[in-house]
Amino acid sequence: MSEPVLKVEGLTKVFHPRGRRSTPLVAVRQVSFNLDEGEVVALVGESGSGKTTIGRMLTGIETPTEGSIHLRSEPGVRNPKTRMQRVQMVFQDPYAALNPFNRVSYSLSRPLINYQKLSPADALARARTILSTVQLTPPDDYLEKRPHQLSGGQRQRIVIARALAASPEIVIADEPVSMLDVSIRADVLSLLRDLLVQQQVSAMLYITHDLLSARLLARRIMVLYRGHVVEIGETEALLAHPQHPYTQLLWSAIPNPRRAARGEQIMVPTASTGEVPLHGCPFQPRCPLAIDRCRHEVPELVAISEQQQVACHVAVDGKSAAS
Ligand SMILES: Nc1ncnc2c1ncn2[C@@H]1O[C@H](COP(=O)(O)OP(=O)(O)O)[C@@H](O)[C@H]1O
Ligand SMILES: [Mg+2]
Repeated sequence: MSEPVLKVEGLTKVFHPRGRRSTPLVAVRQVSFNLDEGEVVALVGESGSGKTTIGRMLTGIETPTEGSIHLRSEPGVRNPKTRMQRVQMVFQDPYAALNPFNRVSYSLSRPLINYQKLSPADALARARTILSTVQLTPPDDYLEKRPHQLSGGQRQRIVIARALAASPEIVIADEPVSMLDVSIRADVLSLLRDLLVQQQVSAMLYITHDLLSARLLARRIMVLYRGHVVEIGETEALLAHPQHPYTQLLWSAIPNPRRAARGEQIMVPTASTGEVPLHGCPFQPRCPLAIDRCRHEVPELVAISEQQQVACHVAVDGKSAAS
């Protein structure tokens, strides 16, 4: 195996909300994973689980409280400024991401001039090529436009184009289609996948709360619950046999005619509220299978097959008892 494009170890972020009585918030706890050459990994979890915070630490917008982020191209380099160029983030809301006063030509040429040190004329030529890559053609129809003159889907393509203008190795797409019309979501997702196929980028982290889109795009899925990775595995294996009760809950909430025909019950996940327990498994207060041990001991990720790891005392015990 070649070296991973990105290696993350023990990534942790603790926020200290203002106010005397507030307690520190562990938004991300001990998250470790790799992104391999050419792969999309999906980071799946409900709102507030720490997905965006992980993305922001990877790009260098946010400083980790603990842990290390290692890019293959820069052994040992810890300068978040360099990382900001190599890891580009595409945010959920393309309207907020673009300055309403800037024309497309400016939004795209600025990173080319700043990062790639291109001349203004070369930057404009390269901007045209990138517009074609994100399928906004002919490019000259878009260069002079401002964000309000574009549709939501076109705006998100401009945001993706701007990320590409920095020639990143990694793109982090943070719920990139959740604010777009349902009718154009598939097109933008397939554009993201094409970026890897065409080797425009080396790897991608696709952040979503939606397991179905994760399945479309990702080779591996990582399930996050309140800052903890509770399960990680190859997409088909994980969805065929989700091991963590939270993954099972997410997966069973997706309407599926075949399962409905078998009379399987659909559980609807409610958003989690309240504090994460100080000890034990973060999911334990909501977990139908919790045993005493879950209240005292944080489960660590354990490999239960070559394709899958799960952080759940009950699932791991069940597996070892069965084998
Ligand atoms: N700058 C911040 N200061 C304090 N708390 C934050 C900050 N950013 C995020 N959080 C908190 O961290 C948790 C994770 O947030 P976030 O990473 O945005 O989750 P997600 O993207 O999965 O919805 C939330 O409880 C959120 O309120
Ligand atoms: Mg988010």
